[in-house]
Amino acid sequence: MPRIRDILHKGEPGQSTTIQGWVRTKREAKGVTFVDVNDGSSMAGLQVVLNADLAGYDTVVKDLTTGSSVEIGGTLVESPGKGQRVELQGDSITVFGTADGETYPLQKKRHSFEYLRTLGHLRSRTNTLSAVFRVRNACAQAIHQFFNERSFLWIHTPIITASDCEGAGEMFAVTGLNLANPPKDKAGAVDYSQDFFGKPAYLTVSGQLEAEIMAMAFTDVYTFGPTFRAENSNTSRHLAEFWMVEPEMAFCDLTGNMDLAEEFLKYIFHSVLEQCPEDMTFFNDRIDNSVLATADNIINNTFERITYTDAVKLLEKTDRKFEFPVEWGIDLQSEHERYLAEELFKKPVIVTDYPTGIKAFYMRLNDGGETVAAMDVLAPKVGEIIGGSQREERLDVLERRIVEAGLDPATYWWYLDLRRFGTVPHAGFGLGFERLVQFMTGMSNIRDVIPFPRTPDSIEF
Ligand code: 4AD
Ligand code: MG
Repeated sequence: MPRIRDILHKGEPGQSTTIQGWVRTKREAKGVTFVDVNDGSSMAGLQVVLNADLAGYDTVVKDLTTGSSVEIGGTLVESPGKGQRVELQGDSITVFGTADGETYPLQKKRHSFEYLRTLGHLRSRTNTLSAVFRVRNACAQAIHQFFNERSFLWIHTPIITASDCEGAGEMFAVTGLNLANPPKDKAGAVDYSQDFFGKPAYLTVSGQLEAEIMAMAFTDVYTFGPTFRAENSNTSRHLAEFWMVEPEMAFCDLTGNMDLAEEFLKYIFHSVLEQCPEDMTFFNDRIDNSVLATADNIINNTFERITYTDAVKLLEKTDRKFEFPVEWGIDLQSEHERYLAEELFKKPVIVTDYPTGIKAFYMRLNDGGETVAAMDVLAPKVGEIIGGSQREERLDVLERRIVEAGLDPATYWWYLDLRRFGTVPHAGFGLGFERLVQFMTGMSNIRDVIPFPRTPDSIEF
């Protein structure tokens, strides 16, 4: 069955065709009804014209309410209306499922995103959410293409793990009980203390450590999968379950890592503008009027690169008042990150060489030991979009850092082995996929760029 997007772009008057989709709007005039049918393939639906001489016209037209599902056959004709080349003169119609106009929750008017979040099973049928998920798909495809062109191997890392990659303890515990045959206590109730794995297991916060294993065999690899954090998710930028893209490169240092991150973001923006011009224009017109200028800025300007120490100096110098005071050693807050990217440099900023005390144990210690070879890419409006580093490849330093971080070196024996057997300088980063989609579309809440957000208040669909 042809998709409506293809018909709108390539359909020719005179051609007969059949479409399937959901009715968005219906307009009845004397002896003729106009129906806008959308199948999710594009922002624009196809206008269908039904004349009163169509068999069963009266019943069919009554059934064509917003949300009903249809198949319509007919002939394409040149459209006299503005904004579309062709429309469909319908001559056969099947209504698969009606949608009661009294109870169907999506009506023609604009609904708030908060309201739409209560309708996770229907909201993808709206203009904005469907545009978001098309752009999300285009981003994902561009990411795979980018890495494939550069001979990176896509690797699949585990979701259930025993180690805490970030060492921050923000992990969801997995009880691992087999509910089909659960262990029972004396009273016959499920005994949650008897664990499947026999030791603590968690949902992964990052695939990085496993990616490092694979980079030590394949040189350049990347992960693209779901990750989980049991941190405060009551913000517009945090989810308990989010997707992360994590390239890891052997024989690479921090500069190579920054170069890749910048090239990567440019590539994705370029590709999405090419793949989804209508959706991107929609975001610019309806959601945030800086969307297209931002995309242009990303593609055509080089990112700013500064050290954490210099960033702190700039933040201390400004008259701007921050909620969290700035001094060397603090973790930059979103207000600081946004000030740097949005107001001061007006483009993405890569901040490097953070204080050792606020970053993860695996980051390579710089000379002097006060800072590590870390990098965060900060984006206007969103703040931190990428976090990465050169990794500690020296066995003795890494062992010390694990202990200093309060972690058990025994858990990381295999990670340490990578430094025992053929260690090399290596680096990588993690891109928060939803933050990227937010940045690209101008959507202000991260819950609206993932089909089924997981936050403390959202687990139903
Ligand atoms: O900075 P983070 O914690 O870095 C890591 O996990 C590294 N292991 C990555 C690596 O070097 N391979 O997370 C990376 C990115 C952040 O910059 C942010 O964009 C996103 O993941 N992120 C979140 N996105 C949505 N909700 C959350 N709760 C997020 N936490 C991090
Ligand atoms: Mg980070």
